[in-house]
Amino acid sequence: MFSSNDCIIWLISFTTIIIIFLCHESKKNNGSFPEGFMFGASTSAYQIEGAWNEDGKGENIWDHFIHENPMRIVNNDNADEACDSYHKYKEDVFLAASLGFSAYRISISWTRILPSGYMGSINEVGLKYYEDLIDEIVKHNMKAVVTLHHFDLPQRLQKDFGGWTNPKLIDIFVDYSRIVIERLEKVDYWITVNEPRIICNYGYGNGKSAPGLEYQEFECTKVIIMSHAAVYRMYKNEFPNRKAKMAITLDCEWFEPKTRSSKDIAAAERILEFQIGIFAHPILKGGWPKVVEDRMENRRLMENLPISQLPKLTDDEIEFINGTFDFLGVNHYYTNYAEYDSDNNIEKSRNEINAGVLITVDPSWDKNSLGRTVTTWGTRKMFKWLKETYNNPEIFISEYGYSDNGTTLEDNERIRFSRMYLSAFHDAIYKDEVRIFAALTWSLLDNFEWSFGYSAHFGLFYIDQNDPNKTRIRKKLAHFYKKLTATGRIPEDLHT
Ligand code: NOJ
Repeated sequence: MFSSNDCIIWLISFTTIIIIFLCHESKKNNGSFPEGFMFGASTSAYQIEGAWNEDGKGENIWDHFIHENPMRIVNNDNADEACDSYHKYKEDVFLAASLGFSAYRISISWTRILPSGYMGSINEVGLKYYEDLIDEIVKHNMKAVVTLHHFDLPQRLQKDFGGWTNPKLIDIFVDYSRIVIERLEKVDYWITVNEPRIICNYGYGNGKSAPGLEYQEFECTKVIIMSHAAVYRMYKNEFPNRKAKMAITLDCEWFEPKTRSSKDIAAAERILEFQIGIFAHPILKGGWPKVVEDRMENRRLMENLPISQLPKLTDDEIEFINGTFDFLGVNHYYTNYAEYDSDNNIEKSRNEINAGVLITVDPSWDKNSLGRTVTTWGTRKMFKWLKETYNNPEIFISEYGYSDNGTTLEDNERIRFSRMYLSAFHDAIYKDEVRIFAALTWSLLDNFEWSFGYSAHFGLFYIDQNDPNKTRIRKKLAHFYKKLTATGRIPEDLHT
């Protein structure tokens, strides 16, 4: 019945399957990451570049916010010089490459390219700067991951239009993005907008961040989603031969129900939908999450408002936004408890009020220097939720990390937490089969942490802000990463 050839083929196939299975099992068990998995570091223009008014760069909302309100930043810090990466970009790319990273994430400062934000005068020096920077990244065999917008909106767009609350921004963002994309041909991954929730909730909701406005978070949400979709569609239509993938990056915090009561379970789901779903659902599934729509309709009735604060999405808009992703960008740091809360409690964040949820943390949980929790059992749950809720998209972890107060280069705590995050990613990949293909840590350098100034140290390289040369000094965590990239597995000891 079977020839000897059939038997040999059968034997070879069987052996190959066993070998593949054993390789997979051994990676699963020994902390190795999949072949081709990308490790890297993340940065953003405003936080590292400095040179805030050099070479024709225009003012952005953070320049303006800080220069007008220096007291709103810890120690009255500002980012006028930041890490001086504008001048030291070659050194920074070299440092990232020296750790064996295969990807380096930067963002484009919009006002370096278009000083007013509008089309019109294009600042060639700005374009050339990013072209050189990306050449340098590619020269060092790293993938260039580029964010088009990371919080630093041109001030003129804020002043003239009210910023991200005005639908006019959609075309303006497309015009800016087109110029950048056209010129920067070597980019490997585009991220349209970084953490739109933070922009809308803090910049336009509670006024804690630039531009410091309140009560307009939902207008902002719709304009940003539409702007993201418009850039994605422009890119696919006008640059059909480009290979680079494009997506939005969302900040994804995990919410654990405080108790097993059905009210708390529903509260946790609700806040996940208000924080993540409000962006992810329109892009990956279509339309607002029903939970958010229902809740906002209830609030409308409660407050006797003529229309819901959540703007409508027309059928055309739903279709236009839906499917505008090649992967999902995820920044993940924290885990919290969520519990049901009555609408009478208004001493809370805008998001908690909107969602009818109280967010708390357990005092025993580990925290970083910003007082934010690091509980990596939540990390694995976060990725499983994303997989199950959004039909198993490919996931690019564009940020994760842990800050300390910068008093030591022997940052053992940070190594401990990095290991915990990485093992949670590893479990998500091998145990839950989440399709994570990259993990970039925040950040290459100690840099300007927005309202916290330079007080939070997230870098692999320490910078003393009082040092006029802004010398980069390697921390122990950098050694950990070097070992990770050399072996492809989570180092068990700390030394190289
Ligand atoms: C996310 C933001 O994208 C980044 O700008 C910030 O510095 C880090 N989180 C750390 O808080």
